[in-house]
Amino acid sequence: MDTGKVTDPRDSNQLTRAYLDSLLVEARYLDSCVPELEMELFGARFASPVMIAAFSHLGGTHPGGMAEMARGARLAGVCNWAGMGDTAELEGILSTGAPTIKIVKPYADRRLVFERLRHAEQAGALAVGMDIDHSFDHRGMPDHVVGMDMKPVSSDELREFVRATRLPFVVKGVLSVQDAVRCAEAGVQGILLSHHHGIMPWAVPPLMALPRIRDALGDSMALFVDCSIDSGEDAFKCLALGAKAVCVGRACLPAFRESGAEGVKRYIDGMNDQLRAMMARTCSPDVRSIPRNVLWSAATGLPVD
Ligand SMILES: Cc1cc2nc3c(=O)[nH]c(=O)nc-3n(C[C@H](O)[C@H](O)[C@H](O)COP(=O)(O)O)c2cc1C
Repeated sequence: MDTGKVTDPRDSNQLTRAYLDSLLVEARYLDSCVPELEMELFGARFASPVMIAAFSHLGGTHPGGMAEMARGARLAGVCNWAGMGDTAELEGILSTGAPTIKIVKPYADRRLVFERLRHAEQAGALAVGMDIDHSFDHRGMPDHVVGMDMKPVSSDELREFVRATRLPFVVKGVLSVQDAVRCAEAGVQGILLSHHHGIMPWAVPPLMALPRIRDALGDSMALFVDCSIDSGEDAFKCLALGAKAVCVGRACLPAFRESGAEGVKRYIDGMNDQLRAMMARTCSPDVRSIPRNVLWSAATGLPVD
């Protein structure tokens, strides 16, 4: 994982880690209590707002692959996300009982997009969505992912995807107010601020983009954050700036490789303890009541909100 030192200023992962580390927390003890971490999302209840990122191709990390990761989410009582993968794999993930948000790639073959959205709904996913940031390759040409052609998505197409399912639709890969507003206009119910672990250089850290997007959209949109989140303190900072929940990706892979679902549960439980500790010390009784003005910028010495 990223160390917090920016040795390559183009590296979006390093920039993101450095931004997370640049935010300081103000303590508020009087009238505080032991906080509740439970979260409600799309009609389901979860143990905490820490979620498993939209992974794919985990068979090389643990023989149980994506279903084993979903078992980890289920054991920890948190929301699971699933990325690229075939229909049989998604059925295996869902058979674990882990409520799962299925992210469909922006396949150039739009029939496949509609098929996958329909399948996810029939198979019992909690929500569906699309990682719009995987439409271009590093030359700005349409992307190819594991032999599959991708295509950029227009606002009109996004509206059609949203209309094609009864499930809540989330968009992954938003970093601008422009995209966020277009998502809202298309009927999207959740946005994951993400640069897909550095899909572009110089990407604005998702947490840095969060306040502007939050202010542009208000409370009606569920906002999620991922990229380089590896502790409950990181999760706390995202919630304090208006995120409903966060996704943990690469940080939980060593525990997953070592101990499968049990390792993932232990990792998430540890993050939950760190999150609860930060909430207790900032007079935050539950995840909906974290004050918006407890973070300070180490760079400016001023509050950030
Ligand atoms: C092994 C692996 C597979 C991934 N597959 C997908 C995918 O299929 N779809 C997707 O939207 N994101 C995918 N991601 C990206 C993650 O969901 C997440 O956005 C990214 O890793 C940033 O979070 P992190 O810094 O916590 O890892 C994958 C990430 C990893 C590490």
